Amino acid sequence: DHPIGVAVLGMGTVGTEVVRIIRDHADDLCNRVGAPVVLRGVAVRDLSKDRGLSADMLTTDAQALVTRDDVDIVVEVMGGIDPARALIAAALNSGKSVVTANKALLADYTGELAAAAENHRADLYFEAAVAGAIPVVRPLIQSLSGDRVNRVVGIVNGTTNFILSAMAETGADYDDVLAEATRLGYAEADPTADVEGYDAAAKAAILASVAFHTRVTSGDVYREGISKITSEDLETAAAVGCTVKLLAMAERVTDEGGKEKISVRVYPALIPRKHPLAAVSGAFNAVVVEAENAGRLMFYGQGAGGAPTASAVMGDLVMAARNKFYGGRAPGESVYAELPIASIGDT
Ligand code: NDP
Ligand code: HSE
Repeated sequence: DHPIGVAVLGMGTVGTEVVRIIRDHADDLCNRVGAPVVLRGVAVRDLSKDRGLSADMLTTDAQALVTRDDVDIVVEVMGGIDPARALIAAALNSGKSVVTANKALLADYTGELAAAAENHRADLYFEAAVAGAIPVVRPLIQSLSGDRVNRVVGIVNGTTNFILSAMAETGADYDDVLAEATRLGYAEADPTADVEGYDAAAKAAILASVAFHTRVTSGDVYREGISKITSEDLETAAAVGCTVKLLAMAERVTDEGGKEKISVRVYPALIPRKHPLAAVSGAFNAVVVEAENAGRLMFYGQGAGGAPTASAVMGDLVMAARNKFYGGRAPGESVYAELPIASIGDT
């Protein structure tokens, strides 16, 4: 059988687990795909780190790796906008499918990347970009595509939920818990993205785009982070039977003129303790979807960390590999409507 060649860009928290699963579960993957899934190489910055891989598998030349003839699928888990954006574009433009966990990139550039995928009949998958291990992107794109989603609300950043939970539950110090979240591999390379709400805003933009079949970018999202939340705020919340959570909210709203708009916002909110989102603790995430016919659905699980995120990446890799093997394609882009974005005053 013709093997499916995979290049992995980045071998940090997520990439290390992806490489481990590809190697440890080779037989399972072969059975699920119908052909062997073979690691062709891994791009990193620093060749001197010991990563348990032979030297010929590692390279600092990511551009050469993504365009190799024996690479069918590129897994991008390096993060950042540059050079990830150009590398993904190069892969798609040479007909290779791409799996990425890079929400910061997708929140602003899904349009151009999806167009490249469409033009070259390649797949662009990104389940891992939102809420770690939790399957929520594909349910919105596929399972709910015959329904009308009205609202998506949830906790989509593990680092901030880990910090808020520890501060509320054990009275831990903000800086100490943030350092622990970084040590555990939950935080972004620059944790400002987590604590100031940029990461949640990127995920909210992605969720809004797939839920409402429109294009929302990170600049469209109203954003407040948690860096100004104090222990006293959490005590006050507890005293009134509430807990504080960083919420990401995307919903259809109607303005005063009766015009439908999309409102997308990220902000710390008081949640009554009996609400299901109040029970989401540590680096766990949860996303509630409200749809006209399905009613309310709740997705819950590990929202950050190497192995949970790698699980979502691997699901996408299997889908992309099957499509390569059988000649299928992921569902294409479904931007039907350019829905205007509501300003905060509209809602
Ligand atoms: P890390 O910082 O742990 O790892 C990044 C890896 O990419 C490192 O191996 C680094 O190389 C490599 N890298 C970075 N820049 C380059 C470059 N220019 N050329 C070659 N290699 C490069 O990041 P994570 O694994 O935590 O995150 C990766 C992606 O996954 C990000 O987009 C992140 O937002 C996303 N993500 C992360 C989650 C998590 O829980 N950590 C969850 C969901 C998504 P070197 O090792 O040599 O420094
Ligand atoms: N830094 C992110 C978080 C990683 O804490 O949720 C998962 O996307």
